[in-house]
Amino acid sequence: MRTIIYNIGTLAGILPGDVRKLEGSQMNTVECIENAYLVIEDGVITEFGKQITNQVGNDGCEYIDAHGGFVMPAFCDSHTHIVYAGCRDGEFRDKIAGLSYEEIAARGGGILNSADLLHETSEDELYEQSMVRVREIMAMGTGAVEIKSGYGLTVEDELKMLRVIKRIKETAPVAVRANFLGAHAVGRAYRGRQSEYVDLVCKEMLPRVAEEGLADFVDVFCDEGFFTVEETDRILTEAARYGITPKIHANELEVSGGVQVGVKHGALSVDHLEKTTDAEIEALRGSCTMPTMLPGCSFFLGIPFGNAKGYIEAGLPVALASDYNPGSSPSGNMRFVMALGCIRMRLTPEQSFNACTINTAYAMGVSDQLGSITVGKKANLIITKPVPSLAFIPYSHQTPVIEQVILNGTAI
Ligand code: NIG
Ligand code: FE
Repeated sequence: MRTIIYNIGTLAGILPGDVRKLEGSQMNTVECIENAYLVIEDGVITEFGKQITNQVGNDGCEYIDAHGGFVMPAFCDSHTHIVYAGCRDGEFRDKIAGLSYEEIAARGGGILNSADLLHETSEDELYEQSMVRVREIMAMGTGAVEIKSGYGLTVEDELKMLRVIKRIKETAPVAVRANFLGAHAVGRAYRGRQSEYVDLVCKEMLPRVAEEGLADFVDVFCDEGFFTVEETDRILTEAARYGITPKIHANELEVSGGVQVGVKHGALSVDHLEKTTDAEIEALRGSCTMPTMLPGCSFFLGIPFGNAKGYIEAGLPVALASDYNPGSSPSGNMRFVMALGCIRMRLTPEQSFNACTINTAYAMGVSDQLGSITVGKKANLIITKPVPSLAFIPYSHQTPVIEQVILNGTAI
């Protein structure tokens, strides 16, 4: 099947095939072609360029008229927890009343509250509830999503979550990567016995997850009140025996040492980073690890935004993801993430665009296939209404400008 998108006002986000991420000043530009066309064959971009004629052929190809809008790569969301049961709207009231994320968690709410709900929910029901969110994010332009476990916190419930993620991978047109986050919080049955819970993660959960091939990545919430650097080191050492690459939650609540331990283990990304010092920037320099910030979490919790600008000025790459989850970021709208990148982190529209596309693709290990307009990459694309500029997309962030989302070459 050959599909031709024509009348493209601006084709944005063009990159050479060997670029896997952008860092420092490379993030300042988004290469575009005005008045363009793009050809898709069998779900893959095979050609694009300047449109010479307006002629639509009668040749059996499918033609899509972009009506002068932007065509850009679909967003890649490299950090989500969208497989969960129910929601936490009750805690929303506690939060409004003034309780912090840590205080809600300390009262037995938070992640443990979601674990209780998930325990009572069947695998089929969990899949159905999660697919509502998967359809929601696809419609908002997400073409690749990383999904974490971490609301199971028992061997069986962690496996249940990861099997649901596998089913989403097999049934939804969006590209999915699975991340095993057994060390998200200490399960209720292990209260006061944290080191025994870490044993459970290492000796029972990880072998089963590896045996069933359920995880592309392993994650640890390495932060104040959750898991220590030593525990993280132990879990990542164990995961390395199974060849599972780490991604880390670090420095959301305190400067935790999570960045350094992640870099030491070759983490693909270290995520959150609301609190950082120069030491984290130095640790990341020259590494293969993508610093990833989650402005939707900062927005929702009212905590500081990560210093994305400082990282870029230091020559590092930065990715921005949604963190879609029921406790700290109940939204998977990557366009809003891109807008927060500009409005609250003072990134330019170009920097924020690159942070939400090619760099998040890198942070979930798919930048060889997704995250830019490149011949040979998957045709996961957004077509917008005619808009005056790239800046308009984050600037007018509530205006519904997304006209069509194309995944694997097919409009959803
Ligand atoms: O990335 N920080 C840890 N985990 C999630 C929140 C999970 C929850 O509260 O349910 C996050 O913000
Ligand atoms: Fe998270």
